[in-house]
Amino acid sequence: MSITTLQKSDLQEQVIRLKKEKNAVILAHYYQEPEIQEVADFIGDSLELAKKAAQTTADIIVFAGVHFMAETAKILNPSKKVLLPDLKAGCSLAESCPPEAFRELKQKYPDHVVVTYINCSAEIKTLSDIVCTSSNAERIINAIPPDKPIIFAPDKNLGKYLIEKTGRKMLLWDGACIVHEAFSLDKLLELYKAHPQAKIIAHPESEAHILKVANYVGSTSGMLNYVKQSPNHTFIVATEAGILHQMQKDVPEKILIPAPAKEDNTCACSECAFMKMNTLQKLYNCLEKEDPEITLSEDIMHKALIPIERMLQLS
Ligand code: 13P
Ligand code: SF4
Repeated sequence: MSITTLQKSDLQEQVIRLKKEKNAVILAHYYQEPEIQEVADFIGDSLELAKKAAQTTADIIVFAGVHFMAETAKILNPSKKVLLPDLKAGCSLAESCPPEAFRELKQKYPDHVVVTYINCSAEIKTLSDIVCTSSNAERIINAIPPDKPIIFAPDKNLGKYLIEKTGRKMLLWDGACIVHEAFSLDKLLELYKAHPQAKIIAHPESEAHILKVANYVGSTSGMLNYVKQSPNHTFIVATEAGILHQMQKDVPEKILIPAPAKEDNTCACSECAFMKMNTLQKLYNCLEKEDPEITLSEDIMHKALIPIERMLQLS
């Protein structure tokens, strides 16, 4: 039977069989399709996924996420095969920071410590002093000696949020996430009027006016923990809609409402088109063929490992 005719459950069975046969591990981000999350060995936020990648004893890592996440796994495991179901699964933040332009900025401010959000290419990581994710960014910034000026890239929204939280002055790269910049404040406030008992929770990649009205701001895992621990019953969730799958599983009795996107957003549903490029079929195909594979030069891996390891030590 051709694999294209296999149904979801058959495909999932085949994926589970293949990963056992090949000693492969599937690491998935919360924004992946539910049918992919269901066959993953581990689901997490960027930091947890990087930690899992650093610890795994599997021969093959299949990264169900976006390119920069798979690259990070490869940098942490240069001798292992790291697969990404669709190599075109990029990230608007990573794309907003081309290495040449970033190198130029860095040269203008040679005394600055360079902190980069993990949502950037491996080449940008080679130009960084330390990497951070949304769950450890505040701690990383606070660990930098107060007299040291900082360049923060590529997310200006997370950067502005960190300036406010830490009181540190930082030079910000002008990058943003297309998904988190698509939330409409007007629609959010209208929704809140209809659900005044709801708590608003938001990812720090969202714009400042969204974060200002949020009751909780944190990474995807942070948001999941908040919803689990909160005595509240209703939540308006301002991040990529894929998180609702795990969240609803964690709190089946609670009401979760996705934050509304602006009218001009392509799907008005806050989905990351990059994350959604991975499908169960592509996951099966890549595990079967062991392709597409993430490849990076030794030099890039060696240099990019330094700021990632600094982050892991501080996390
Ligand atoms: P987290 O690290 O919070 O999971 O964020 C990843 C991401 O890409 C958010 O858009
Ligand atoms: Fe990148 Fe935004 Fe998609 Fe996250 S949600 S992978 S930051 S484009």
